[in-house]
Amino acid sequence: YNAYRFFFTYLLPHSAPASLRPLLDKIVNATGELHWGIDETAAQLERVLNLYKSGEYLQNTTRIPKTEYRRVPEAFIPDENYRCWPSYHHKGCLLSVFDVNEAIEICDSYSQCKAFVLTNQTTWTGRQLVFFKMASNPIVPDPDKITYVKVTG
Ligand SMILES: *[C@@H]1O[C@H](CO)[C@@H](O)[C@H](O)[C@H]1NC(C)=O
Ligand SMILES: *[C@@H]1O[C@H](CO)[C@@H](O)[C@H](O)[C@H]1NC(C)=O
Ligand SMILES: *[C@@H]1O[C@H](CO)[C@@H](O)[C@H](O)[C@H]1NC(C)=O
Repeated sequence: YNAYRFFFTYLLPHSAPASLRPLLDKIVNATGELHWGIDETAAQLERVLNLYKSGEYLQNTTRIPKTEYRRVPEAFIPDENYRCWPSYHHKGCLLSVFDVNEAIEICDSYSQCKAFVLTNQTTWTGRQLVFFKMASNPIVPDPDKITYVKVTG
């Protein structure tokens, strides 16, 4: 119950991918109502974690990119940050993605986003960290990064 009260209710439902939200809401509710013990709670959390790590949570979403992107290997955009929530970086928009298609979806869904940069860093769940950017100038060489720039028709 204390895990519900101090952690789950604040951390679990927010900023989770839409397809995982019902599962997380169920965990919050069932622990808040004392319907589950620790074993069942752990098993349900593992289940969500596996859907998240494997990318299965993306399966039921339609994945048709709206915009075309130009791929610039070994390149980085040092400036042009904007803030987003939840971000791993306090000055810029640094989010984790399962793959490049998820990064495209995120950039497509936000009109301010004009480019993004895949880094070679990952989170503990193996998701790649990506900087989202307001513009693509300047682009500087960086062997560890790949830049994608929105192609405006
Ligand atoms: C759990 O869900 C029920 C039914 O929607 C609701 O009445 C109850 O307040 C919820 N409990 C918690 C702790 O979220
Ligand atoms: C995807 O949809 C199928 C069929 O509706 C469902 O059984 C499955 O749980 C869904 N997967 C996710 C990750 O939401
Ligand atoms: C990213 O690349 C740099 C330079 O090649 C390397 O030092 C660093 O260990 C790499 N980081 C990861 C997480 O692979």
